[in-house]
Amino acid sequence: MRCCHNTAPAATRVRQRIAVNQESRPSVAPAEPRMRTRVTELLAIRFPIIQGGMQWVGRAELASAVSNAGGLGVLTALTQPTPEALADEIARCRSMTAQPFGVNLTMLPAAAPPPYEAYLDAAIAGGVKILETAGNVPEAFIAKAKAAGMKIVHKCTAVRHALAAQRRGVDAVSIDGFECAGHPGEDDVGGLVLIPAAARRLQVPLIASGGIADGRGLAAALVLGAEGINMGTRFCATQEAPIHARVKQLLVDKSERDTNLIFRTLNNSARCVKNAISDEVVAMERRPGGVAFAEIHHLVAGARGRATLESGEVENGLVWGGQVIGLIDDVPSCADLIRRIVLECRERLGAGSAYFQ
Ligand SMILES: Cc1cc2nc3c(=O)[nH]c(=O)nc-3n(C[C@H](O)[C@H](O)[C@H](O)COP(=O)(O)O)c2cc1C
Repeated sequence: MRCCHNTAPAATRVRQRIAVNQESRPSVAPAEPRMRTRVTELLAIRFPIIQGGMQWVGRAELASAVSNAGGLGVLTALTQPTPEALADEIARCRSMTAQPFGVNLTMLPAAAPPPYEAYLDAAIAGGVKILETAGNVPEAFIAKAKAAGMKIVHKCTAVRHALAAQRRGVDAVSIDGFECAGHPGEDDVGGLVLIPAAARRLQVPLIASGGIADGRGLAAALVLGAEGINMGTRFCATQEAPIHARVKQLLVDKSERDTNLIFRTLNNSARCVKNAISDEVVAMERRPGGVAFAEIHHLVAGARGRATLESGEVENGLVWGGQVIGLIDDVPSCADLIRRIVLECRERLGAGSAYFQ
């Protein structure tokens, strides 16, 4: 169990760490608001809000906007066709923000794996100091990244995997609940249980991921024991996300009931927005005798999903998205989104004390 010397109730402790300094001093601009948790300290960011790696979406436009707004923007390494292209994207992102940003390296089993180590080398050579890892990351990669002075945030979907990552020396863990977009694992444990279950066992800072879109979510995550949040789907529906406006509108229009879990029968569950393609995959998986990956490959191919994001033909390919689409009503800038999440979080944590009066 994590040790805590502060005996104040959880919500009060969290409030104590949100130092929103809006004092006005004559002729001095008010200090920028900021929050303080171990995650903001570790990553040198103003707010404990991370934009998770997102294939085809995690490019410089989005990552720099999130970092400029005080969160942590993350470039997705494998969105770039080669390690050299990643190096160029890092340089482009650096020209768009002076704030820290990270690189996501997702290492999933593949018939022809990408040159993962060369992507890592490109991130190191580009001076990136924060690495978000996901999937099966060899110990040698962690050692190499740490030797280069990187802070490593490992994202996973189970407490046992979080503990294994901690043993391997990562600096923080993001844990994705069953609600999340992408791969939620096969345990089907929602964030309300998974986050405190992980917080009870981990010593490194925990970041809650999956199903978070607003200040209520940030407040809840902090009270549950996390010290920051990671969002994917919510950041897709922002002005700066480099995807077609019709895809953003799809995320606005859909409800929390409008996701599909595909690849369940292949033991590689993945959550995406319900549309003609994901419905067809689910139907094929439910056929007597199931389906082989080769039979659905033409529907789920990465290139097809990328084309959908670019063309806005939202019924033509997979659109990754989590149940949190039920909480998305608009397409703000990243700055507006982060600002209102922080203010709403503060308000919600304050409101919590009303129960005790
Ligand atoms: C469009 C999209 C693409 C994603 N691609 C990746 C990826 O390549 N690697 C990864 O680790 N996570 C990926 N994710 C997962 C996110 O980083 C994050 O963990 C997840 O979206 C959190 O759940 P939420 O969408 O409910 O916020 C993706 C999510 C989305 C929405």
